[in-house]
Amino acid sequence: MSDIYPVEPAFAAQANIDRAAYEDAYAQALDNPDAFWGDMAKRLDWYKAPTVFKDVSYDLRDFRIRWFADGELNASVNCLDRHLDKHGDKVALIFEPDSPDTPVQKLTYRELHARVCKLANALRNLGVGKGDRVTIYLPMIPEAAIAMLACARIGAIHMVVFGGFAPNSIADRVSDCTSKLIITADEGLRGGKKVPLKANVDAALKLPGTNSVETVLVVRHTGGAVDMQMPRDRWFDAVVDSQPATCEPERMNAEDPLFILYTSGSTGKPKGVLHTTGGYLLWAAYTHDITFDLKPDDVFWCTADVGWVTGHSYIVYGPLANACTEVMFEGVPSYPDFSRFWEVIDKHQVSIFYTAPTAIRALMREGLEPVKKTSRKSLRVLGSVGEPINPEAWRWYFENIGDSRCPVVDTWWQTETGGMLITPIPGATDLKPGSASKPLPGVQPALVDAEGNLLTGAAEGNLVLLDSWPGQMRSVYGDHQRFIDTYFKTYPGMYFTGDGCRRDEDGYYWITGRVDDVINVSGHRIGTAEVESALVLHPKVAEAAVVGFPHDLKGQGIYAYVTLVAGEQETEELRKELVAWVRKEIGPIATPDFLQWAPGLPKTRSGKIMRRILRKIAENAPDQLGDTTTLADPSVVESLVQNRRQE
Ligand code: WT7
Repeated sequence: MSDIYPVEPAFAAQANIDRAAYEDAYAQALDNPDAFWGDMAKRLDWYKAPTVFKDVSYDLRDFRIRWFADGELNASVNCLDRHLDKHGDKVALIFEPDSPDTPVQKLTYRELHARVCKLANALRNLGVGKGDRVTIYLPMIPEAAIAMLACARIGAIHMVVFGGFAPNSIADRVSDCTSKLIITADEGLRGGKKVPLKANVDAALKLPGTNSVETVLVVRHTGGAVDMQMPRDRWFDAVVDSQPATCEPERMNAEDPLFILYTSGSTGKPKGVLHTTGGYLLWAAYTHDITFDLKPDDVFWCTADVGWVTGHSYIVYGPLANACTEVMFEGVPSYPDFSRFWEVIDKHQVSIFYTAPTAIRALMREGLEPVKKTSRKSLRVLGSVGEPINPEAWRWYFENIGDSRCPVVDTWWQTETGGMLITPIPGATDLKPGSASKPLPGVQPALVDAEGNLLTGAAEGNLVLLDSWPGQMRSVYGDHQRFIDTYFKTYPGMYFTGDGCRRDEDGYYWITGRVDDVINVSGHRIGTAEVESALVLHPKVAEAAVVGFPHDLKGQGIYAYVTLVAGEQETEELRKELVAWVRKEIGPIATPDFLQWAPGLPKTRSGKIMRRILRKIAENAPDQLGDTTTLADPSVVESLVQNRRQE
């Protein structure tokens, strides 16, 4: 039996939704979808209200996913203009800079609206229009949200690249979506260290396939020296500040694209996940409200970076669509010391705090002293996202950060899902540490075995979704077939998540992690294939195989097996060089945690690498290798086992 933390009566008394209301909404969404989604659509302001709601078929012969398909709206109007009458002077963004000594900036909804309009006008003047792709490569500064909303205002499709990605990764994405304009900054600032953003863009634009880019807008942030290549490069303030503070928004169809965000899969290069305007925005707003028991005077803080989907849905679109006040943080949890998160919570009286298990584990390691010197009394709800949270970290978070007062919502979702799908609702769901618990209304999870048979009752299997929800991705940009092949072919008629999962006797879902070749490093997805391709680009590498392994802080670490070309020496120096090489090729988040020389790799007689065996060696479980008799050369395993990473 696992522990249960029942909904506290004091919390339930003030909650927006109790258990009966949740169960009622869940049943309604199933039994009477048109009434349920029709009602839900009223959360948004539409130029033309939709008259059709869900129009979906997962049947491969007649495949379509459309939501609110005849509706017309603009996402930036929903996040800004419609709040101006009542909430114009309410603070939208509290910008907390990297250093606690740098002054905080507060932007009201009216100010944010004006800044978005100015940039939107500037983009139009630079020839950006509806359907054009705009790359955003910015630090966590207000301009990141402003840039996304300015694109949405004029119907341009934004494509945000996380500031930790290297020039190659920028170039791959820019060229895949043939972006016309890039918005970047001179430098980023994280934990007192500078990140050469503009220099990375310069390097990316020297790479093949990037000549669609006509303009680079550069935000002056640190004031660091950068190379400006005229007429391509323009200072952001010079182009934007003089623009009018109003801007006619583009009328968008609900199914018009809002953004592309690249994410790693089990094969090939990252996929451009495409989200659309109506369904996505509605799902981001609804889930942000229901999952955090949102109140009008809440101060919300999501610590993610806007470079990931969590930042899109829960820094930009969800909170702003809900007219919420939120903190945007430029820095890191360890700077200037390990109290920073808790100090920021006190400083801005944060009531809802949403972070990742990897951060919780890192802070837990520092002990209670940095926590206990802060008050945290303003907190009401705590959230977790990105990877399974181990019960130990869950309890530490619940007991020490929320003083056993604040429910912890462990929210399961994916870049592809646009917003949360399986999560507790704080006033409705009893909590079990380590379980994302129950599906939100409109979400139908199920478990299947390897053959696709539906499992009933308490069971463990692969997690699928039987039907669509508004925030579902609509396509892989430029490759609709890849979308269908990746998500709908494994188990026909169902969306396959790529996650393994257990359902307990109470119907609670426990995500066990990816079952495909995707590694979840600190809540960030890395495809093993991407790291392998980076390694084999090195002239001394003949072959590489990459797997994940359990890592105390990161959840999973990256374990690389490398075979050198004949005659090359397996030196410590080369090992370091290869680790640095991957970092430079993809970005710091893809840095291998361990690199083992592999004179040979375990392969079947048909030449397929047996990753199952490599995973077990990386897990330091050489007694669980299973059957190795089908290997072309079983002796390679022995030497790999001998030289494995051991703790
Ligand atoms: C993968 C999606 C969700 C936005 C950030 C990551 C894992 C995510 C949880 C959770 C267990 C989780 C899954 C999922 N994951 N949240 N609460 N419990 N696992 O988005 O980069 O698209 O990664 O992250 O494995 O498939 P992403």
